[in-house]
Amino acid sequence: MKKILLSGIKPTGRPHIGNYFGMMKQMVDTQDEYQSFPFIPDYHALTSVHSAEDMRRDTINVVMDFLAIGLDPKKVNLFKQSDVPQVTELNWIFNCITTMPYLMRAHAFKDAEAKNSEINVGVFDYPILMAADILIQDTDVVPVGKDQIQHVEMARDIAEKFNKIFGETFKLPESKLVSGVEVVPGTDGQKMSKSHGNTIGLFAEDEEIHKAVMSIPTDSKGINESKDPEECNVFALHKLFSTEDELGELRKRYVEGGMGYKETKYILIKNIQKFIEPLKEKRKEIAQYPEIVDEILRKGGLVARERAEAKMMDVRKKVGLSS
Ligand code: ADP
Ligand code: TRP
Repeated sequence: MKKILLSGIKPTGRPHIGNYFGMMKQMVDTQDEYQSFPFIPDYHALTSVHSAEDMRRDTINVVMDFLAIGLDPKKVNLFKQSDVPQVTELNWIFNCITTMPYLMRAHAFKDAEAKNSEINVGVFDYPILMAADILIQDTDVVPVGKDQIQHVEMARDIAEKFNKIFGETFKLPESKLVSGVEVVPGTDGQKMSKSHGNTIGLFAEDEEIHKAVMSIPTDSKGINESKDPEECNVFALHKLFSTEDELGELRKRYVEGGMGYKETKYILIKNIQKFIEPLKEKRKEIAQYPEIVDEILRKGGLVARERAEAKMMDVRKKVGLSS
């Protein structure tokens, strides 16, 4: 029996290379090893997307993006969260065993609170819905970037609490981080994120890549001065797009001096373009057949919903909502 792997990416705009290295690539690399459930958390996206048109468009886009990077719908079960409404039922049950002070400790909530005092209840409850996504499918492993680790830990806590109150029901999931790319930095050195405006698109055109890389701030060291690669945002991105040998050579040139920041940026631009080109080609090809998206989601939704309903029959009995 293969272990169950599940992870989601919200339909909230175009994916960037942080999403790719932090999460999407792992879904592709593990598709043979695990019984895999990549999904599109559209209920979660509703916390910020309030346009039906955007939601529909971006949901289709995420499916196509996943296919373009090599996810094989015959191997994995790709589905849309709202095709499994049972998660909202489980969300309610979990709400009733989780305290407000516990949820207030979530980083995402604290960040949202720091920026905006009018937070919707969905943002506050977000980690519980995520716990429901994970636990309802008996998930073993959740590949995510570092920012989502706390949410997976909360899912474990909630599973433990439920099991303690109502009896053994849920498996305790583990998160899975790719070492070295826990956090992909953006063009400003902070975590790359759609909300920071510091992204490099996963399917970006050549000019966009050029512009983004040229905008990375560096210190003012001259061409011949020795530079510390570990202090350089350009080098941090080289790590994702270079072989070990190339990286060793670059490191040497940083330390020895003789390579200016412009040159290291040009090398990075070329490497990113080379990497993105085939993904873009594939993405364009897939966009010619949008009808496959519906069929993939229909099939995936069916499987995910059946599993979730079976789990909920047990949960409803355990809590006394059915006999
Ligand atoms: P964003 O911050 O751009 O809105 P999401 O929150 O939609 O990204 O993240 C989707 C997935 O991509 C999550 O698993 C998240 O951990 C991962 N991810 C996002 N940004 C990064 C990053 N800069 N480095 C590593 N992983 C990331
Ligand atoms: N919160 C995740 C993000 O913002 C998306 C998500 C929702 C998710 N449900 C999940 C990820 C379950 C993993 C497992 O990226």
